Amino acid sequence: MLTVVTSGKAAPGATTSTWSLALTWPRPLVVVDCDPAGGDMAPGFLAGRVTTEHGLLSWSAAARRGVPALAAAALFAEHVVELSERDGVWFLPGFTNTTQGLSFTDEIWERLALALGRCSAAIGRDGLVDAGRLACDRGNWPVLRAADQVLLAVRPSVRSVHAAQDATTKLRHELGDLNNVSALVIGSGPYPAAEVASALQLPLGGALPEDRYAAAVLSDGAAQSLTKPLHRSPLLRSAIRVSRQLAEGCVHPDATTYIGVGEAR
Ligand SMILES: Nc1ncnc2c1ncn2[C@@H]1O[C@H](COP(=O)(O)OP(=O)(O)OP(=O)(O)O)[C@@H](O)[C@H]1O
Ligand SMILES: [Mg+2]
Repeated sequence: MLTVVTSGKAAPGATTSTWSLALTWPRPLVVVDCDPAGGDMAPGFLAGRVTTEHGLLSWSAAARRGVPALAAAALFAEHVVELSERDGVWFLPGFTNTTQGLSFTDEIWERLALALGRCSAAIGRDGLVDAGRLACDRGNWPVLRAADQVLLAVRPSVRSVHAAQDATTKLRHELGDLNNVSALVIGSGPYPAAEVASALQLPLGGALPEDRYAAAVLSDGAAQSLTKPLHRSPLLRSAIRVSRQLAEGCVHPDATTYIGVGEAR
């Protein structure tokens, strides 16, 4: 199963949410930072812990044109970082800047999308991708097209919903329909999560709470307090439920509301 997290502009928390889902996913996982604008996953949560030897660029050099998708997926194993925080999670770092992101041609994105689609068969892992924001021209559409589910991150605010509406227009245009797209509502605000999803005419894929402490650890590598372990934070506790439901494929295509994940009411 391949799950892709994306967003409109206004930084609703796509990267932070991707990490919280990664750390709670119920099956072995490969997490891939595919933000063409430059990946935030490594310099954020894993600040100082990832070298440039690992990542999308080194994988693409090894999994050259003509390498079958199954073999290309197997090659992920040689380019990932294993997480000490959680067994069973591999992380493939992304680009260090936009220039690197632009160096990926359509053909390489297609190759990556095919490999991600074969992850389960090749390495027995689900795939989880941070695709970054859909605000500008970008090359990673093949990865979004290959996804079994696309989560559109959005805050329960008018500003963020406007940005997400723009993103749904782009998603519909590029994917042909929104059948695999659902809303991931992040944090607290004046509107309940179900209402936000409904304003976007998307099913609610999940809701994650406002949790500044855990978010700072996941987005910026802030130091963890001994008295507040990350795994007991409200964010990760909610993420356990959301991950489980996503991994079970519980987003119903016709649902306007979905799963009780402690969303605001
Ligand atoms: N659940 C949350 N509770 C509180 N703060 C959060 C939460 N999720 C994210 N944040 C905060 O929101 C800010 C933006 O988060 P993040 O970088 O994950 O957004 P993004 O959507 O990936 O942005 P970009 O489009 O720039 O990649 C960060 O300061 C992060 O700590
Ligand atoms: Mg991000």
